Amino acid sequence: MIENKLIKKREASVEFFIYKQDSVKIPSKSMNVFYNEKMILNRDITSLVVGAYKNIYNLLTFNFIDSMAASGITSIRLLKEHEELSKVYINDINPLAIDLIKRNIKLNAIDASKVNVSQKDANSLFSEFHNQDHSNNTFKRADIISIDPFGTPNSYIDMAFKAIKKKDGLLCLTATDTAVLFGVKPNVCIRKYMSKPLHTEYCKEIGARILVYFISRLANINNLGIIPLLSFYSNHFLRVFISTVKKKKEIIHNFSNYGYILHCTSCGYRSSFSDDILQIPKYCPSCKGSKALKYAGPLWIGELHNEDFLRLLLSLNKQQNYINKKVIDKKLSYALEEVKMPPFYYNIHKLCQELKLPFVPKLDEIIKAIDKKKFTASRTHFDNLAIKSNINLSELKNLLFDLSKK
Ligand SMILES: C[S@@+](CC[C@H](N)C(=O)[O-])C[C@H]1O[C@@H](n2cnc3c(N)ncnc32)[C@H](O)[C@@H]1O
Repeated sequence: MIENKLIKKREASVEFFIYKQDSVKIPSKSMNVFYNEKMILNRDITSLVVGAYKNIYNLLTFNFIDSMAASGITSIRLLKEHEELSKVYINDINPLAIDLIKRNIKLNAIDASKVNVSQKDANSLFSEFHNQDHSNNTFKRADIISIDPFGTPNSYIDMAFKAIKKKDGLLCLTATDTAVLFGVKPNVCIRKYMSKPLHTEYCKEIGARILVYFISRLANINNLGIIPLLSFYSNHFLRVFISTVKKKKEIIHNFSNYGYILHCTSCGYRSSFSDDILQIPKYCPSCKGSKALKYAGPLWIGELHNEDFLRLLLSLNKQQNYINKKVIDKKLSYALEEVKMPPFYYNIHKLCQELKLPFVPKLDEIIKAIDKKKFTASRTHFDNLAIKSNINLSELKNLLFDLSKK
């Protein structure tokens, strides 16, 4: 009896089964069917993003492909939380997951006509949408696609762009191969994302920017462009939400967001450069040291989030009772502060340590002091101990010295 092997759980608006055995395991591939309690935040934010998306585009109905659904928890939550969802394609390659998805659909009394459960490779499912699109003019491409694999999503993105709506489609994508994107395994990153990472103190942001760049290039290959709506890091994963655009002008505009980040390992100087490689300096313009600058890229140097979209997410979050409500509010508020700021940050604790300061000034005080000097500064959701600013590093160091004397 499979029932004896299952245990019932609750998450936000839904009850669902997972395997008893899995409930005591550290989340990993070895589970019968994957479930990670720590990813609730990811699913909460995904539901908020879907809410903001339908709101902005005035969608009365829309469909969704949950290409790697595991227990089906994301789809079932979205079906309960968004009644405009007219069809959800819930897919997973694992046969045990399919059985569990069907039980969880029943448990939550989901209207069977709204769901289509399948056990396919995600790319095969996407290619069915792509092929039908070619054979039948009335066929509806996917409004929303979610890709949530073990590790890298790199091999699913091209096909997802062939299955998604060309204009205003919403692609939601997770990457858990953070050691690769954050530069611990640089050669793997070059191989998988065609971009060189850098294992610096702001490597999380570099990783997010490599991922968005890679997504954008694959969109371009498919005659599409992207608008990043929200790109965030949490609990060892990156989650990126982008919408699709199809006008040539908009696609070409994407190119201005491609570039490099330069880093001086002697003095900590950092800056970004657009794709014009002839303009890139070889040696540090700040300390004029003899060591050549290191670089990361090519990567996305444009905005990682859309300001209006973030404001809407923040207001939708206020209306929810999610257990992560406060954490989400903080994360989204910091993300909002990141808009129009430079594509890197400074870890203040690390800087104070380097400068051997007696204590670390409060981040809010540092931001105020930078503002007074007519530079801009903000918090960043990537690192609670860091700030973003357009002040140059030597001025920032002087300012930290002054504040530590007070
Ligand atoms: C990280 S889990 C997904 C978690 C799920 N989205 C959630 O919120 O709980 C990854 C899932 O992808 C499935 N999977 C792995 N490779 C796949 C493929 N090529 N096509 C479809 N599903 C795949 C695995 O069986 C696993 O259930």
